[in-house]
Amino acid sequence: MTLDLATDVFMGYELGPEADSLNKAFVDTVRAGTAIVRTNVPGLRWSKGLKGRRVLEAFFRKELPAKRTSQESDLFSALCHASTEDGERFSDDDVVNHMIFLMMAAHDTTTITLSTLFYYLAKSPEWQERLREESRALNKRELEYDDLPKLEGISLAMKEALRLCSPVPSLPRKTVKDVEYEGFFIPAGSFINVVPYFTHYMEEYWPDPERFDPERFSPERREDKVHPYAWMPFGGGAHKCIGLHFADLQVKAVLHQVLLSYRWSVPADYEMPVDTSSLPVPADGLPVKLEKI
Ligand code: HEM
Repeated sequence: MTLDLATDVFMGYELGPEADSLNKAFVDTVRAGTAIVRTNVPGLRWSKGLKGRRVLEAFFRKELPAKRTSQESDLFSALCHASTEDGERFSDDDVVNHMIFLMMAAHDTTTITLSTLFYYLAKSPEWQERLREESRALNKRELEYDDLPKLEGISLAMKEALRLCSPVPSLPRKTVKDVEYEGFFIPAGSFINVVPYFTHYMEEYWPDPERFDPERFSPERREDKVHPYAWMPFGGGAHKCIGLHFADLQVKAVLHQVLLSYRWSVPADYEMPVDTSSLPVPADGLPVKLEKI
């Protein structure tokens, strides 16, 4: 569903029967990012990733000529027409590469955020009910832009879900100068990883870090203010996520609909197993009991 929405919004394109194969190609390409064996051995992650990557390249390349001439306002067309003051433009390869990354970033992370929210809201029926009341108070099935700030409970729960299960668990960086950190010397040009998944559970920043407690982001508490990078699910600096507002919008639009139509639950002793071998996803598909309301 999030891939459908992303192709619609950022490409002005409605996915047909190719949706499943495209989705699989994205999953395989992303999973290759954490492959240990990085040669083309059939059946292993790297090989599946290469295959997925070819599917994605073919898909975007097929659409490219039409986008080069289109006057539409979607992002794919905008990349095709973008130009510097000196008239430099993106090559076809540049556009395809940007689109593959953007479309991955625009749907996978939001899906993970929604899965985490569904899990914690199933475990915390009182929060689920609070959000449902907020949605009901709007008295409409489809959100409009001005309704977004009114769903304050979803904002708090989403922030907490992003803390507990950061969809991008680690950020690659390269040191631009020699640094000393916690007594360790790191020379310029070193490859390092910054790991929100770790930071978000540091007891020195987050009281009772394992607990789902959305109120920690309330104006009265603002536990995230303890350090500028205590809460960093969207990264930071020049490459900070450009899609965080779109993610907020999409999560609210989806959750609002589900809250109005269903109550969902998991058994009291259920703990969601998280597959962390690539981007974190529920290892068991997160079975929930849905009750129509
Ligand atoms: C909850 C959802 C999302 C999360 C958790 C997330 C997280 C991130 C993170 C951690 C980064 C890397 C930042 C860094 O290296 O400092 C990033 C970059 C990026 N994200 Fe997101 N993202 C989300 C949704 C989106 C959406 C919906 C879009 C597209 C509309 C998007 C587009 C991008 C792009 C294009 C970049 C690369 C920016 C650059 O390198 O300059 N993201 N995101």
